[in-house]
Order: sequence, then structure tokens, then C-alpha cells
Amino acid sequence: MSLESGKRKQSVINASSPHRDDKSAHPKEPQRKYKVGILGATGLVGQHLVRLLANHPWFELTEVAASERSSSKTYAEAARWHLDIPIPPSARGLVVKSIDPPLDCDFVFSALDSSVAGTAEESFARAGYPVVSNAKNHRMDPDVPLLIPEVNAEHLAAIPVQQKNRGYDRGFIVTNPNCSTAGLVLALKPLADGFGLEKIFAVTLQALSGAGYPGVASLDCSANVIPFIAGEEEKMESEPRKLLGDWDGSSFADAALRLSAHCNRVPVVDGHTECVSIGLKKTASLGDVREALRSFEVSEELASLPSALRRPILVLDEEDRPQPRRDVLAGGGMAVVVGRVRPCPLLGVKFTLLSHNLVRGAAGAALLNAELLAARGFLRHRDAHPPIIHIPAHRKRLA
Ligand SMILES: NC(=O)c1ccc[n+]([C@@H]2O[C@H](COP(=O)([O-])OP(=O)(O)OC[C@H]3O[C@@H](n4cnc5c(N)ncnc54)[C@H](OP(=O)(O)O)[C@@H]3O)[C@@H](O)[C@H]2O)c1
Repeated sequence: MSLESGKRKQSVINASSPHRDDKSAHPKEPQRKYKVGILGATGLVGQHLVRLLANHPWFELTEVAASERSSSKTYAEAARWHLDIPIPPSARGLVVKSIDPPLDCDFVFSALDSSVAGTAEESFARAGYPVVSNAKNHRMDPDVPLLIPEVNAEHLAAIPVQQKNRGYDRGFIVTNPNCSTAGLVLALKPLADGFGLEKIFAVTLQALSGAGYPGVASLDCSANVIPFIAGEEEKMESEPRKLLGDWDGSSFADAALRLSAHCNRVPVVDGHTECVSIGLKKTASLGDVREALRSFEVSEELASLPSALRRPILVLDEEDRPQPRRDVLAGGGMAVVVGRVRPCPLLGVKFTLLSHNLVRGAAGAALLNAELLAARGFLRHRDAHPPIIHIPAHRKRLA
């Protein structure tokens, strides 16, 4: 199947905005839009969030925040804009704030550098804001959902436990996985469900934009391959086990799955390619594997979310696909594109996959997480509730 015909078979999504035209298919559409803030709005992930939030049917961008370098400037002055479309007019004039609460919004996305994300996200959660994070800091916390809606939506049940553990009132933290894990685990989901997974061996060819801006120095990355990305192999070897594991009501139990990852930076702008070998628990033919991937379809609830694809895995039959330049925008960047499904002499089955690191692996992933949170009633309009006033513990004793 060509990508073009594959795209037609899915819900068609425009490359610049993932929101479907058939708005009638959104039964959970909020009566009024939620106000959104972006922490780290000036970075690469933040810019994709700004793009995806323009004209979003459920969310309205009201606040942008970043470092002192950007603070007090308008967004247009502060952001070194990298996208092919102009800055959305609704964002251009927003004044960049510092990354401290309060902000005039109902929840925040975090696209902050990990050096500051951990504490900033906790401050917002403590101040009553749901935090939908891209950063690595809280992904593996024992009470924080690491979420891909198509894979483990049931992990949202951890939120009340997190709030109780941490004394958060209405705030909480939900994270999306690392950019190379996001595409891998989405493709693994139907195989885990259908046949069980034992072993995964993956070699990545990761795009430069995965390192943020300015990222890797040009003299290091031009016409070159760098066989090391700090912390990446560790993330790829741990996050899938949490994502494909269970929430038992009080804690997460990792999937019994062994993984080995080799991560490489290559001179590609957007799109992480991964060469994956898998060992299945049950015997399955290549046809069974292709069919499981090709027919994977999300629930009605998920399909009704504005950024969701009914069929988020696109399987190509051409022997030389997927390729980042040709296929990275499949499904508006929300599809994982799988090709070259073939026998692996070591583990059984191997294939190549591609996913957009900044969309499926970051901004689009966070947006889909927020849409699921909205649809499940985890988001609130802050002006419908009195502000939370935190009384320090010693003052509480006096009161
Ligand atoms: N790039 C990807 O493909 C990808 C994928 C998944 C997850 N992530 C994660 O998402 C986050 C953002 O990634 P990115 O690629 O967008 O990085 P980036 O381009 O380097 O942007 C980083 C953002 O953090 C802000 N920031 C940096 N230091 C700060 C400080 N001391 N105080 C306040 N704000 C500060 C920057 O603001 P200024 O502009 O004002 O400096 C900028 O808005 C990171 O945690 C990254 O690991 C990235």
C-alpha cells in the first residue's frame, strides 16, 4: 500500500493541524474551551504545541512561559521560530512569563528543559494545575502515569493516588514517553495484545530536532552519525515496561519484557527511524503480524478525541519505506509508520518504523493526553472554583 492510499484509509489529518474536519464526532466536547499555558513555549516542542493549539476545538492558548532570557518579551520576539508556517496570530502578542504559578490558565503543558522541569511541574501541580509533561523528570515516578492513550489509558487511575500521596488538591502530573519510545510502544501494542512480547532489540536513527534547539553542533552532525545520545538507551529500555505494564490500584507493575536499545543521532531534521527485532510469546506468521499492525484500531472514546487517529499505525509494503523525508507527516505526524516486516533469524520478526519525534513523540502526544484528560473529566475551569490558598504547616497548627 502506498502512503498516500494508506493515509486515505485513515481519518485524514491535515499536516499543519491534526484536528479533524468531522467535528460532529466529538461527543465529549467541553461547553467552553479550557485555557492553556505552555511552560517552555519558546523551544522546539513548545513551538509545535503553539501550532497545534491554534484553532483547537477544546483548548485556547492563554499563557506562554520560558526562561529569563525570554521573559517579558512578546512570544514573537522571544521564540526563534522554526516551523514552516508563521507563528499563529493568537500567540504572537502573548507576553512570555516566568515558569512560576499562578498563570491565567486551567492547565499547563510542560515542554521545559529537564534541568528545570522537575521542580516547576511540581510547583504547578501543588498550586492546583494539571500538568501534561514532555519532560523526563517524573516519567518513572511510581504514582505518575506515563501515558499513550492508545496503549494504557487505564493508567490514568493513578491520578487520585498521586494527589493523595503528594497532598495535591486539584493538580497532578501526567507525562508522555521519550520520543523514540513513543513510536516503538505504539507499534508494539497490538503485538503485545495479540501474541505477547518477550524480547525487543531496537536500533534507532534519531533526528536532530530530538535534541532541541540549538541541539547538536553542525560540525559534529553534518554528514555524520553519532552513536551516543545521553540517557536515551536507558529510557528506551525502561519506559516501554511501564507503558505496557499494569496499574493494580495502588502501584504500577512493569511488563515482563526484555529490551536492548542502541541509539544513534543522524543528520535528519525530523523523524526517528527504528530498526526493531521482536521475540513473541505465541507463534505468529509474518501475515499475522502485519495484519495485527494494520488492523489496530482505537476505541470509540479515543477516536472521538480531536487529535486521535482511528488507525494510528500505518503499514507500508514498499521494500524501501518508511523514510523520514517521505513519511514523517503521515497522519499529521501522529501515525507510526511501519514497513519491512520480515523474518528475523535471531528473534523471529523484524521491521522498521518511523515516527515524528516532535509530534507523536512530544507535542502531539501531550495534546492527545490532555484531550483524554478532558474527555474523562480530569480538567476543570479554574474560574469555576475558588483559588487554592496553601497555608504552611506551622500556620495550620496555630489556626
Ligand atoms: N525535541 C524532541 O523531539 C523531544 C521529544 C520528547 C520530549 N522532549 C522533551 O521536551 C522538553 C523540551 O524539548 P525541546 O526539544 O523543545 O527543547 P528546547 O528547544 O531546548 O526548549 C527548551 C525550553 O525550555 C526553556 N528553558 C530552558 N532553560 C530554562 C530555565 N532555566 N528556566 C525556564 N525555562 C527554561 C527554554 O526557554 P528559552 O527559549 O527562554 O531558553 C525553552 O522554552 C525537554 O525536556 C525534552 O527532553 C523533546
